[in-house]
Amino acid sequence: MPKPVGAITRGTTGVNRLRRCDRWLAHSPRVRRVLTEAADPLVVDLGYGALPVTTLELAARLRAVRSDLRVTGLEIDPERVATAAAAAGDGVDFALGGFELAGLRPVLVRAFNVLRQYPEHEVLAAWARLRAGVTADGLIVDGTCDELGRRCAWVLLDAAGPVSLTLACDPRRIDRPSDLAERLPKALIHRNVDGEPIHDLLRAADRAWANAAGHGVFGPRARWRAMLAELTEAGTPIEPQRRALRDAVLTVPWSAVAPVR
Ligand SMILES: C[S@@+](CC[C@H](N)C(=O)[O-])C[C@H]1O[C@@H](n2cnc3c(N)ncnc32)[C@H](O)[C@@H]1O
Repeated sequence: MPKPVGAITRGTTGVNRLRRCDRWLAHSPRVRRVLTEAADPLVVDLGYGALPVTTLELAARLRAVRSDLRVTGLEIDPERVATAAAAAGDGVDFALGGFELAGLRPVLVRAFNVLRQYPEHEVLAAWARLRAGVTADGLIVDGTCDELGRRCAWVLLDAAGPVSLTLACDPRRIDRPSDLAERLPKALIHRNVDGEPIHDLLRAADRAWANAAGHGVFGPRARWRAMLAELTEAGTPIEPQRRALRDAVLTVPWSAVAPVR
């Protein structure tokens, strides 16, 4: 077995922390298609942390899409692999591995709160390893969130490169959308400065959120929807949601936020 690629980092995790991303994955037409059509529906949860709770939750939520789905939790810390062993069973297992994916060929990789602890200049190489490791139509989610999973952001990638950026939050817990800036994935967190598209997007979202204040009487989700409508009207390429999600979510193509420098 080759040496796992990467470095052991803090193992912070928590029950239900990644629920917003799990729900988005189970809802996304592209993710659903890839899972449904896969000859071998293997999903990898890369870097599950000190306890494997989010791996078990991912398996349970994605089984709503495909009941025979298997999930392997990979961790670069051997002690965390040993701890997780007791939770294995029912199509979920745990193994030592890093960005090389331990020789597995999954159809979907989730790496949440993993790359945030790496230097920015290592992101592209890690993405390239992951992209080379998934199936031809496989997908990768590289995301970041706060401790309780109320403020989240993730990049969806395919074999060709980054596809989209999603911001997701509990809209009762934010003053403005740019509160999510501190949870941007590593590829963007240092780009929230003048002249960068992610900065423009967050500023436009803040303005639209302020303009949508009157919708707050119908609740923060209605205000979020009004904000999305204003952004769309102004030309921001917000991905439409085919079904109503209870989460406040904003997805744009990667081309709308890709760093310019
Ligand atoms: C902060 S925890 C994230 C836990 C969980 N994914 C979550 O979001 O709640 C990050 C974990 O990623 C692991 N890790 C870091 N680099 C890794 C790599 N290249 N491959 C596998 N695991 C890695 C660390 O050892 C750590 O346990």
